Amino acid sequence: MELYEKLTAQGEEVRGLKTAKAEKAEVDAAVQMLLKLKVDYKHTTGQDYKAGCPPSENAAITDNGPAADGEGGGDDTVDPWNVSTTNAKGVDYDKLIVRFGSSKIEKELVDRVEKVSGQKPHRFLRRGIFFSHRDMNQVLDAYEKQKSFYLYTGRGPSSEAMHVGHLIPFIFTKWLQDVFDIPLVIQLTDDEKYLWKDLSLEDCHRFAVENAKDIIACGFDVNKTFIFSDLEYMGASPDFYRNVVKIQKHVTFNQVKGIFGFTDSDCIGKISFPAIQAAPSFSNSFPQIFGGRKDVQCLIPCAIDQDPYFRMTRDVAPRIGYPKPALLHSTFFPALQGAQTKMSASDANTSIFLTDTPKQIKNKINKHAFSGGKDTVEEHRKHGGNADVDVSFMYLTFFLEDDEQLEKIKQDYTSGNLLTGELKKLLIETLQPMITQHQERRKQVTDETVKQFMTPRPLNFKI
Ligand code: TYM
Repeated sequence: MELYEKLTAQGEEVRGLKTAKAEKAEVDAAVQMLLKLKVDYKHTTGQDYKAGCPPSENAAITDNGPAADGEGGGDDTVDPWNVSTTNAKGVDYDKLIVRFGSSKIEKELVDRVEKVSGQKPHRFLRRGIFFSHRDMNQVLDAYEKQKSFYLYTGRGPSSEAMHVGHLIPFIFTKWLQDVFDIPLVIQLTDDEKYLWKDLSLEDCHRFAVENAKDIIACGFDVNKTFIFSDLEYMGASPDFYRNVVKIQKHVTFNQVKGIFGFTDSDCIGKISFPAIQAAPSFSNSFPQIFGGRKDVQCLIPCAIDQDPYFRMTRDVAPRIGYPKPALLHSTFFPALQGAQTKMSASDANTSIFLTDTPKQIKNKINKHAFSGGKDTVEEHRKHGGNADVDVSFMYLTFFLEDDEQLEKIKQDYTSGNLLTGELKKLLIETLQPMITQHQERRKQVTDETVKQFMTPRPLNFKI
């Protein structure tokens, strides 16, 4: 079986690198690849990989269904292209922190953000939706000493319509921009989507411009925000391209294979793309904003699926004389059908799109939102529902601002006072106005506004 052979070859590769005393980063990357293949192997065959024991051809694929007991997590798949777990509560984020080697956002850090910014922490921080970080304390230390930083986030424009899950990093980035009063760069990777999807360059670029409208509708300050399409900016900015090339020179094929799982049959565009997503982490990629300075610290808010890009970036940074970017990672906004996967644009019924009408939102939630309620009203009243696996409740934790109201909903649902239909109604009433308001703000975004945001220019940045 192909996967088995790949695993065996990768095992040999790891042993070879260790024997040859290869660089630590190279060995780590090969080990990561080995672990990923082992997880894929278990998913596919239902068996643990054992060297020298190929799987039997008709081995059953294990599917234990949603495990609502909070166990598991070791088999979670989280990378820029796939997010899946067998646990109905979603990915085991504590285990992911250990696997990825990031740090948990503890209460102390949330308190510190509050102290330094002088603002009540955003609900995403209060509720652990942004749950993991890299070097956030360092960013705050420097900020307290009047050393500013900038924000970098992005979007891969694979279609015209973005979904509610895509809003999570942008809503949070807007809050960070407001409370710290700092510049922001937003990368639209139309090149990435061309390389990965069956789309034309023209379509990818058009989606980038359309998506920019949704991003602008989140309320970013035009004097502090630069949005760019790779297809445009790469050719227009020699400084950006120089950084891309520097990064490319310092990452081997073996490393990207380990980090991203690329194979020999992937096109070379994919293999070199990570350098393009890494380059905005360095301030001298934007001389019009930072005046050629290469030492302005970057902070990247994103969901944790994007972390592999930035593990690579952080590994390269000191070798090319730049500071490592800091990160804030969010959990995933789940698919309507349950937290086993993230909300993803590829299946319309798993997602609530920013273009959905109030009626569509209502129907999707009523029809598809996975419920932790019991089968009959009597049983539900008697035993209560399970908020931990209930998608409507999970969505409310992302969007209902009032902490006390949220807690009361949880108690009422768990005790059986609140029925599934009533919980769904609360969610519908929260999401409908939110999306309608987003659509109204988006309508105000003209082509001229998009052009303003996407023109390379100085921003309000206090050095
Ligand atoms: P993309 O377009 O897949 O996703 C855009 C941003 O949304 C996050 N995201 C989610 N967050 C919560 N719940 C979800 N269900 C969900 N789905 C997606 C992603 O983590 C991301 O932050 N390669 C990137 C584009 C990119 C980028 C960046 C992203 C370029 N530079 C820097 C973050 C930071 C992509 O295709 O994102």
